[in-house]
Amino acid sequence: MTKTIKIAPSLLAADFANLEAEVKKVEAGGCDMLHVDVMDGHFVPNITVGPFIVKAIRRITKLPLDVHLMIEKPEKYIDAFAEAGASNITIHAEACHGNLFEVIEHIHSHAISCGVSLKPLTPLSRIEEHLSNVNMVLLMTVNPGFGGQKFMMEVMPKITELRKKFDGDIEVDGGINRDTAKEAIRAGANVLVAGTAIFGAPNPAEIIKELRSV
Ligand code: DX5
Ligand code: ZN
Repeated sequence: MTKTIKIAPSLLAADFANLEAEVKKVEAGGCDMLHVDVMDGHFVPNITVGPFIVKAIRRITKLPLDVHLMIEKPEKYIDAFAEAGASNITIHAEACHGNLFEVIEHIHSHAISCGVSLKPLTPLSRIEEHLSNVNMVLLMTVNPGFGGQKFMMEVMPKITELRKKFDGDIEVDGGINRDTAKEAIRAGANVLVAGTAIFGAPNPAEIIKELRSV
C-alpha cells in the first residue's frame, strides 16, 4: 500500500534570527511537521539547540515538532524535550549503549511518537528487534552533523530492505531534493526531511509541493 508522503522542513537551514517568520513561511507552504536537529558536539561534531528552543518554537506553531536527537545518552534529555513540546522524539541507535529498549519505552511513556535512527553505515540489524516498538525509523542519508551535504545513494538498499519489514513511517534525512526524494520514495520512504532544499529556495511553498508529488 502506498503511504502518504509527509514533508518535514529542517530548521537547521532556517534563518535563526528570524525563526518565527521562517516557521510561518513553511507552515503556510503546507508542510506536515517541523524537523528540529539537536546536536551535542559529541555524537556529532556540531552543536545546535536544546529544549529551550523547542519550547519557544512550540509557542509559535501548531505543527508537530519532529525532534531528531543527535546526542550521546539521549535518555538523559527525553523528559526535557517531551515537556518542551516534542511530538516525536527520534534517538540514534548508535548513541544508546545497550539500553535501546528502555529508551524507546521512556519516550512512549510521554504518549508521544518514537523514532529510532541509523547513520548511513549502520546496518538495519542494529534495530531489527525494535521495529515493532517504534512509530518511525529515520535512515540518515548523510553522515549526521551538518546541512547541505550530498545524499548517499548507498543507503538506498537499506530503505528497500526496511520497507519489506516495517509498516511505519520511514524518514530520510540529508541531501533531499527533487531528484533524491524521488529515489527515496521509490525505495519505500514516506517522510522527507529537507533543509537546504526548502529554506534555500526562493519559494519554499513551491518546493514543499513539488517534493510531495515527485
Ligand atoms: C543533518 C541533519 C539534517 C539536516 C539536513 O545531520 O539531521 O536534518 O538539516 O539538511 P539538508 O536537507 O540540507 O541536507
Ligand atoms: Zn535531522
